[in-house]
Amino acid sequence: MQGGIGILNFGSQYTQLIARRVREAHVYCELFPWDAAPAEVLASHPQGFILSGGPFSVYASDAPHLPAYVLEQNVPILGICYGMQLLARQLGGRVTPAARREYGPAEVELIGPPNPLFGDLHPPASRLEVWMSHGDRIEALPPGFEVLARSANSPVAAMGDLARGLYGLQFHPEVAHTDRGAEILRHFAIHVCGCTPHWTPAAFIQQSVAAIREQVGAERVVCGLSGGVDSSVTATLIHRAVGEQLACVFVNTGMLRQDEPEQVVHTFREQLGMRLLPVDATEEFLTALQGVTDPERKRHIVGERFIRVFEREAARLGEVRFLAQGTLYPDVIESRGPERQAAARIKTHHNVGGLPQDMQFELVEPLRYLFKDEVRAVGEALGLPEEIVWRQPFPGPGLAVRILGEVTWERLETLRAADGILLEELRGAGLLRAGTQQAFAVLLPVRSVGVMGDGRTYQHVVAIRAVTTEDFMTADWARLDHDLLARISNRIVNEVPGVNRVVYDITSKPPATIEWE
Ligand code: XMP
Repeated sequence: MQGGIGILNFGSQYTQLIARRVREAHVYCELFPWDAAPAEVLASHPQGFILSGGPFSVYASDAPHLPAYVLEQNVPILGICYGMQLLARQLGGRVTPAARREYGPAEVELIGPPNPLFGDLHPPASRLEVWMSHGDRIEALPPGFEVLARSANSPVAAMGDLARGLYGLQFHPEVAHTDRGAEILRHFAIHVCGCTPHWTPAAFIQQSVAAIREQVGAERVVCGLSGGVDSSVTATLIHRAVGEQLACVFVNTGMLRQDEPEQVVHTFREQLGMRLLPVDATEEFLTALQGVTDPERKRHIVGERFIRVFEREAARLGEVRFLAQGTLYPDVIESRGPERQAAARIKTHHNVGGLPQDMQFELVEPLRYLFKDEVRAVGEALGLPEEIVWRQPFPGPGLAVRILGEVTWERLETLRAADGILLEELRGAGLLRAGTQQAFAVLLPVRSVGVMGDGRTYQHVVAIRAVTTEDFMTADWARLDHDLLARISNRIVNEVPGVNRVVYDITSKPPATIEWE
């Protein structure tokens, strides 16, 4: 991709949000660590830069600095919080510790001349509710700058050198708590930097198809299709680019949900006309999982086995040079930062797409610059069915980690039936997109006493998990309507043999995780 905005990350927890907002304005942007190699950043010819916030004080000896090449480009720059202080200091202004640290909501007053950053916000809206989070503040402006906004605690809440297109904001326009913050970022990209808002799903598809054709040429590509939105959009884009050169391998691990294997085959083979090789490896997975109850071992076994089966099937295809993966932008960004290595391992995530590099394939990753919501928009533009585009996340190890204790065919069938009822009811109530971002049933390794008809029962317990979340890093349990819960419970107990009790999980994440294992 060419043009757009380069965002330099100085360590703020909100940097990804800046990228989201710019993309929402249909302007392409890329995120880089502040100390990325200049050639890497400049390769996409940014028409402007945004400097993110960060947890440092510009005066700390080891604080990140503003790399010289940024100013040398003579393109507009917007510094946010720490980014603004860096810009001010670099250009000859003075930054000092504020008498009072300012965290949370504040009101700023827009003053100074009309300018393209605030555009039509000023006037008539001369006051904005914003989100602040800083310890240092600008005490003296650099030459050529004017004050564009002030707050009770920050005499320079926004500054600008209109002639050079250099701006700074003490507050965070990228967070939802800042009034009209998304508009300010859009103004910067479009009015200050002159970017064309042509980053749309249709444009992405067109560019991506051309890039895939160029990369792949006349070679063949194999793609592991799971039926999830990422692998589905990846496969569809590649199919559109190189048609029959793509073969998709769909491994039925036996750990999938009700009707899922049939739906995937129907959609991709019948509806979309792709070369799809379904492999039913249920027996193989069940045998490998026999007697295993430890969650991490289950994850490991499913992950390992998946790779084996995939390798075996891919080998049958003959000479294949490329492997398609549905890697997304957040994975790319995270894998660069130190956070990933430092984070404690809570559970081993196994991605159906995450195959080892030593498989001797070259990678095709058409989604590596997209966020999840953009992948969905592209999926819609490609005409994929709603059930796929809006499919909730499903873990690689599948139902193996939703059956606590040993995984057997009988227990899988019990869970599938209960889960099928839950999803049917939630879909019917219109809650699968907005009401809960992830919902599923869990089969517990205990039995409980009940009474049915006139007899005592001693049967399985099913737990229902439904959460609301933005990023799956934290989550709250969904406050589902009680009548709906009653109907789900009734139907499961009546329709699923061997289950006599249903419980609802009311734990948030943290301290619990979303999955039970
Ligand atoms: P937890 O349980 O860690 O889950 O709160 C967070 C999100 O990740 C999903 N998940 C996985 N996704 N492979 C995946 O691709 C996995 O092994 C895996 N384990 C959990 C989980 O469903 C939730 O959306």
